[in-house]
Amino acid sequence: MSSKVYFHIKDLKINFKSFEGEKTVLNIDEIRIDRGKSYGIIGESGTGKTVLALSILKLLQMPPGRVVRGEISLEGENLLNMSQKRMQSEIRGKKISMIFQDPMSTLNPVFNIGDQIIKVIMENQNLNKRDAYSKAVEMINTVKLPDAENIMKKYPHELSGGQRQRVIIALALSCGAQFIIADEPTRNLDVTIQAGILKLIRELQKNLKVTVLFIANNPGLVSATCDDTAILYKGEIVERGKTREVLKNAKHPYTQMLLNAVPKNRKNEIDLNKLVFTEGNAGDDGKGCLYYDRCLKRQDKCRKKQELLQLGENHFVKCCLYKGDNDDE
Ligand SMILES: Nc1ncnc2c1ncn2[C@@H]1O[C@H](COP(=O)(O)OP(=O)(O)O)[C@@H](O)[C@H]1O
Ligand code: SF4
Ligand SMILES: [Mg+2]
Repeated sequence: MSSKVYFHIKDLKINFKSFEGEKTVLNIDEIRIDRGKSYGIIGESGTGKTVLALSILKLLQMPPGRVVRGEISLEGENLLNMSQKRMQSEIRGKKISMIFQDPMSTLNPVFNIGDQIIKVIMENQNLNKRDAYSKAVEMINTVKLPDAENIMKKYPHELSGGQRQRVIIALALSCGAQFIIADEPTRNLDVTIQAGILKLIRELQKNLKVTVLFIANNPGLVSATCDDTAILYKGEIVERGKTREVLKNAKHPYTQMLLNAVPKNRKNEIDLNKLVFTEGNAGDDGKGCLYYDRCLKRQDKCRKKQELLQLGENHFVKCCLYKGDNDDE
């Protein structure tokens, strides 16, 4: 049991069917997260981040989606083989909770915050209403919202964006889940509020030992939050490793471009909209580098299938510039 990887994605390929035929939107070699660790996924819009998050919880609509191959396992069990019934009764909320970009998609506008958290606690923890109330207050304190009893009485629209996102985190924790997927949880918040939420996620990870998969479109957001990081481009991981290594010693031309787009003095703020984005469409196996069209360092050999190369103990890059280059400098 102890030797098992807590969360492990292996060779996952997901396609979407459309009018023009089938296209690959995710083609991931490996993501492994040990219990209690945080893992960041960085990628621009349309690169498959939400498809990944939904696939983990088996919430991706199929069709149009289709799992071509692969494995997503939690504590050694492949979730892709699990029935929807078991996913609902044993996994969603119980073991894995998701924090979405838009808190309003999770909160019900017609119930106050207290009622919503109490309901989740009663459903998941077998407590009576009185104890669930105390637990709800405790959860609101855990996410560092002041005056918990007052927050409980508020309706979602009466809270700010940052407060709502904290309530969502409280809800996710109220279910007792030990693994949290946060899909761009700070995207619609301004920079100072973002920083507070990131700090909170980091603290929860450290204090409550929850495991976190943190999805972002901005390298500045994962630098202080995640132990490991993967850079996703058109559905494929082009670079991954320890966050420090990937961000301080970036090797892939795409990672380097992303990092150059982060203003040095305001690292939590980045206007990725100023960059040219391409629709996600992971390469079919056997095709050349997906970044070829945009890469300033491209060469003829880049047209061949690119393998993920190991550069250091825990640093991988998918770019033939490093072929035959074993040292990390
Ligand atoms: N229901 C769907 N049907 C067809 N294609 C989809 C569907 N949902 C997402 N896609 C495609 O999958 C790719 C990845 O989308 P998504 O995971 O939402 O990107 P991200 O979260 O990184 O912005 C996009 O190219 C998008 O067009
Ligand atoms: S493989 Fe070639 S085109 Fe792709 S990122 Fe590396 S240098 Fe650029
Ligand atoms: Mg998304």
